[in-house]
Amino acid sequence: MAKVAVLGYGVVGSGVVDLFYKNKHQIEKKAGEEVEIKYILDIRDFPDSPYKDKLVKDFNIIVNDDDIKVVAECMGGLEPAYSFVKACLEKGKSVSTSNKELVAEKGAELLAIAKKMDCNFFFEASVGGAIPIIRPLHRCLGANEIKEISGILNGTTNFILTKMINEQMSFEDALNLAQSLGYAEKDPTDDVDGNDACRKICILASLAFGKHVYPKSVYTKGIRDIALKDVEFAKAWGGSIKLIGSVKKLDSGKIHISVEPKLVPYSNLISRVDDVFNAVMVVGDAVDKTMFYGRGAGKFPTASAVVADLIESIKHDRMVFSQYWGESTDSNYVEEYCKAQSRMYFRVDKMNSDLFGDVEYISADDNDEIAFVTHIMCIKDAVKLKIKLEENGIKVKSMISVLDID
Ligand code: NDP
Ligand code: HSE
Repeated sequence: MAKVAVLGYGVVGSGVVDLFYKNKHQIEKKAGEEVEIKYILDIRDFPDSPYKDKLVKDFNIIVNDDDIKVVAECMGGLEPAYSFVKACLEKGKSVSTSNKELVAEKGAELLAIAKKMDCNFFFEASVGGAIPIIRPLHRCLGANEIKEISGILNGTTNFILTKMINEQMSFEDALNLAQSLGYAEKDPTDDVDGNDACRKICILASLAFGKHVYPKSVYTKGIRDIALKDVEFAKAWGGSIKLIGSVKKLDSGKIHISVEPKLVPYSNLISRVDDVFNAVMVVGDAVDKTMFYGRGAGKFPTASAVVADLIESIKHDRMVFSQYWGESTDSNYVEEYCKAQSRMYFRVDKMNSDLFGDVEYISADDNDEIAFVTHIMCIKDAVKLKIKLEENGIKVKSMISVLDID
């Protein structure tokens, strides 16, 4: 019989335990043996939990118990999650985590320990919640050279944008609702300011290109500056504004990577992904475009991915199936953000066709302001254009790049 421990009994951890007992029979069939959750670690008391006999507060009980072969880490944050996961792997216990901060900051090191200790470090739940993306990217698309990955990687912000746009809900009410549904991070500014999506695109980039990409090297901008006027102009143009994490491999071997709101044309399925749903588009040299879609956050959708990793670990005991990437030693690996190329959307307060140049104007009903989309240009040149417009008394209210996947 395989004995499992769950670290953290919050939204995801309780989902893991509930889902496990709901589908225990089927899970055991897939794992190939009987499975039992022996411990649940949390700092809080849960006197009403049906699993209160399994609750412990001392991590040492788990790490020192040789019966425990597999651990699900669902506490979140860097510490003590990092120390606990490292200690488990060093004892040869496989770990499945939903913690993207941990993977984005310490993935290369933890994967190396897992490999050395003949156990697995799995993190399917760390990107896209319920969406199978880590294993498909690593295994099913393994024959491809990955060219580009772009998508909606944060459920909370997509949920907020959808509520604000479709139901005219205020930002605060939409965020409160996302929190009450268990979607948001402990510190929701991580969602709103793009840090959570940044960690996820770093994980995907590391996996796709084999070198650890750290969040600090990624240009990251959240949804705070999106105005309803931009949303209206976007609709009139034929698209929507979404928070997009994106990475592209350049011919130079470097990568362009960013998290920022982008104008997504309706011709791209991502533009129609609403609510807490996420969507990731992966472009490979053999497959062309593939799309992965599903619930990006929430108790059971996320637990689904964590439990699947537990099954995989139990089934493949002592066989290392972990996805792998190495430490990054090249400090120039990430290309400067301002060298990226894109069409650019501008919203300005005055017309001046001489200064705007050859652009596509957007007509909207309420047009006391002007919006247009440029041809493909370097971000550096877009910034120069913005400065030039402002020097000429034109206020630039928004400047947003367009998601064009070619
Ligand atoms: P929660 O805050 O709901 O759960 C975390 C639990 O771990 C809490 O009960 C917390 O207690 C407990 N905990 C914290 N520190 C310790 C410790 N030192 N020892 C024991 N228990 C501890 O978070 P979530 O379940 O929402 O998220 C967990 C992880 O999963 C995060 O990394 C998150 O980013 C990720 N994730 C979350 C998703 C979601 O939809 N919620 C989706 C995908 C990933 P206390 O509350 O007292 O701090
Ligand atoms: N806060 C995250 C989100 C949880 O909203 O996407 C899932 O990773």
